Amino acid sequence: MKLAVVGGGSTYTPELIDGFARLRDTLPIEELVLVDPAADRLGLVGGLARRIFAKQGHPGRITTTDDLDAGVDGADAVLLQLRVGGQAARDQDETWPLTCGCVGQETTGAGGLAKALRTVPVVLDIAERVRRSNPDAWIIDFTNPVGIVTRALLQAGHKAVGLCNVAIGFQRKFAGHLGVSPSEVHLEHVGLNHLTWERAVRIGGPGGEDVLPKLLAEHGAAIADDLHMPRAVIERLGVVPSYYLRYYYAHDEVVRELRTKPSRASEVAAMEKQLLEMYGDPALDEKPALLAKRGGAYYSEAAVDLAASLLAGADSGSGGASVEDGGGRRADSGSGGASVEGGGGRRAGSKVQVVNTRNGGTLPFLPDDAVIEVQAEITAEGARPLPVAPVEPLYAGLIAHATAYEDLALDAALRGGRDRVYDALLANPLVGQFAYAEKLTDELIAHNREHLAWA
Ligand code: G6P
Ligand code: MN
Repeated sequence: MKLAVVGGGSTYTPELIDGFARLRDTLPIEELVLVDPAADRLGLVGGLARRIFAKQGHPGRITTTDDLDAGVDGADAVLLQLRVGGQAARDQDETWPLTCGCVGQETTGAGGLAKALRTVPVVLDIAERVRRSNPDAWIIDFTNPVGIVTRALLQAGHKAVGLCNVAIGFQRKFAGHLGVSPSEVHLEHVGLNHLTWERAVRIGGPGGEDVLPKLLAEHGAAIADDLHMPRAVIERLGVVPSYYLRYYYAHDEVVRELRTKPSRASEVAAMEKQLLEMYGDPALDEKPALLAKRGGAYYSEAAVDLAASLLAGADSGSGGASVEDGGGRRADSGSGGASVEGGGGRRAGSKVQVVNTRNGGTLPFLPDDAVIEVQAEITAEGARPLPVAPVEPLYAGLIAHATAYEDLALDAALRGGRDRVYDALLANPLVGQFAYAEKLTDELIAHNREHLAWA
């Protein structure tokens, strides 16, 4: 099995490599190619990646290249984890929206639109080259904004699934609170990427007992604390919003906070500098603790599970089936409420995982081709959402609003033009006023001209 990681020079990559090394029985990688245009980073990250594999006795070969076509050639799956414009562009996304009193964030609001506009054309070009080289390859998209990017890929007919670590993060956190194995925890996770709610937490399987009320009663303070939201609000709702909902539910408070501190991009840039220095140390052969300060916890586990399920049958490996790890314990292959076999009309051996995929009527109040983030059955044919209980208006309204924004954002990313940017901003739930849309359109274009072919 050959995997390629585009954006392989990311400082996040050792997290991925660590997961690949630990979970090699689930995903038997023979060749891993790290593709990145930044030769200096690639050298440092590639060196550490090889040392991690060697230390953990992984027999797979790791190579690095700045040549995309050569790197993805023959790959069974291609992971996309790139950031057009790097942390410098992110810093802008997090800053100029604040001039209108709107939240500055890399995936939501006006900053998220800027990121979508920069990213969609680049990702589509990469996907086209992957398809030309290997039409059967799966694209696993971590590149933000994942919902819009995945929709762009699906609309262009690519074999793509979008992935985020929010669900697997909740799964691990809740498992810890409950004292059970993560694979026992099944989330009823609904919404769009970075706009989701956990409506039930079931133990043992999708039909298992819902322990969310108990979880909130016993651990509500810790859960609220993690999300920086008032416990009373979460208890009254009776669901757990993702921390991205804070940009909506506490918008003005977040804006006030953001104005008083350095951008997340500048924090991350400082961490990246430190990380790259560490990666250059030939004695380092594991992911450093500092990496845990980044937001990407568990993304390697989610990627391993997804790739294993999508490539099931494509290889002689376990194909995503449950496997025993060295200690005879069942390897935890669940992510975001995952790892159920059979039952519920699903195929034997199939896996359930929270992913971003085509709505196709799952949420009947959205267009079929919207991309939603829900539990889905993952097979070699792709992701198929599990049925979702009717969504309460309290959540459905915001989901529908943001879906309309995403639709307009994708149109602006594909066709360009000031008016399309303006429309997307006016439709964005975090902007929504024409005076702001006017000003933010100008800001967005001024700050992103070098990345926008049409501007
Ligand atoms: C979470 C989100 C990712 C996002 C990351 C940012 O993992 O799910 O989509 O990219 O946080 O983390 P950072 O350390 O870059 O702020
Ligand atoms: Mn994410």
